[in-house]
Amino acid sequence: MDFNLTEEHIMIRDAARDFAQNELLPGVIERDEKQEFPAAQIKKMGELGFLGMMVDPKYGGGGMDAISYVLAMEEISKIDASASVVMSVNNSLVCWGLETFGTEAQKEKYLTKLATGEIIGAFCLSEPEAGSDATSQKTTAIDKGDHYILNGTKNWITNGNNASVYIVIAQTDVEKGHRGINALIVEKGAEGFVVGPKENKLGIRGSDTHSLIFNDVKVPKENRIGEDGFGFKFAMKTLGGGRIGIASQALGIASGAYELALAYSKVRKAFGTEICNHQTIAFKLADMATSIEAARHLCMKAAWDKDNHNDYTKSGAMAKLYASQVAMDVTVEAVQIHGGNGFVKDYHVERLMRDAKITQIYEGTSEIQKMVISRSVIRG
Ligand code: CAA
Repeated sequence: MDFNLTEEHIMIRDAARDFAQNELLPGVIERDEKQEFPAAQIKKMGELGFLGMMVDPKYGGGGMDAISYVLAMEEISKIDASASVVMSVNNSLVCWGLETFGTEAQKEKYLTKLATGEIIGAFCLSEPEAGSDATSQKTTAIDKGDHYILNGTKNWITNGNNASVYIVIAQTDVEKGHRGINALIVEKGAEGFVVGPKENKLGIRGSDTHSLIFNDVKVPKENRIGEDGFGFKFAMKTLGGGRIGIASQALGIASGAYELALAYSKVRKAFGTEICNHQTIAFKLADMATSIEAARHLCMKAAWDKDNHNDYTKSGAMAKLYASQVAMDVTVEAVQIHGGNGFVKDYHVERLMRDAKITQIYEGTSEIQKMVISRSVIRG
């Protein structure tokens, strides 16, 4: 087993690290405070290939593997989790699903622009009463021959206002349950499609999260992804990869907070010495470093499974479950190590702590990950 990164992996990781330091760090506190979408930074991320990393170059993507994606996600998330959620959704939930299950015409029309970051996309599954229980879709897509009529409301949609293309999951045939659900591509500006108000969030405040309202929106049949009734499986398969992205985001939030706490503990003095020399702090650092390393291994294993065409449903869920818990634990400790300074915005760790919480909620709560993992281990 080789734990070494290839030269290419190191190059990608370093490019993401440089970008995060030079382009995302300036203004990250203000963007969080003002809930300002990092539009200019996202544009540059697209130009550098971070928004369609794994997409085939023939559609404008980077043709990279999932290991590269984990490495880049960790680096971007260390500095700005609001930018990395845009990156994760565009790569995993939008580009991957379109490339894997879309028609050639859909790829030509949408994927080429999404992979280069010319436009960004959104994935619309959650509803007021169908977040975890994803089969209970109330949004309807009624079959009208050559088109669907879409009605309903989606909630907590990342990139809600800034996206140009939305993949919307909706129920076509209630009788068929989850086999009656479809995934449809809806363009911004479609008649009857309204973007609701922006959510005022605890964390990832630079990303824009909105509800979306569909009132008799006409969607041509050619915009359906996959066969009739494939929408639920499409969503599940897509979320399987998405969880590797969010696990890597959680890993990055944890390692970003840890690096800040480590550096701080080496300069802050108390009782006549730098605080890292006190065992109470040193042991915290040891626990943080160990859990981050374990989370990184789980993320890498899930990415390796994906790259090697193994089933990554379980390993992705494990990575997300564990890394998101580590993100919570480590950021809380990082604030503690910073003492009073940790509670003020200038030191970044309070923001990382707030950002960490969402990684236990979106793309399936921790409880959902446990459902996925337990089903897998019990059924074998
Ligand atoms: N891959 C492929 N197929 C799958 C699958 C997977 N990972 N998981 C389930 N399926 C299939 C099953 O095989 C089954 O098909 P058949 O009947 O043909 O065999 C069908 O889907 C239904 O499966 P279940 O009976 O297992 O479904 P369930 O209702 O018990 O729920 C669940 C399964 C895992 C709990 C699922 O509902 C789930 O993942 N919920 C969480 C959804 C989620 O992550 N929401 C977050 C929203 S997205 C988001 O947060 C984006 C963002 O903004 C960042």
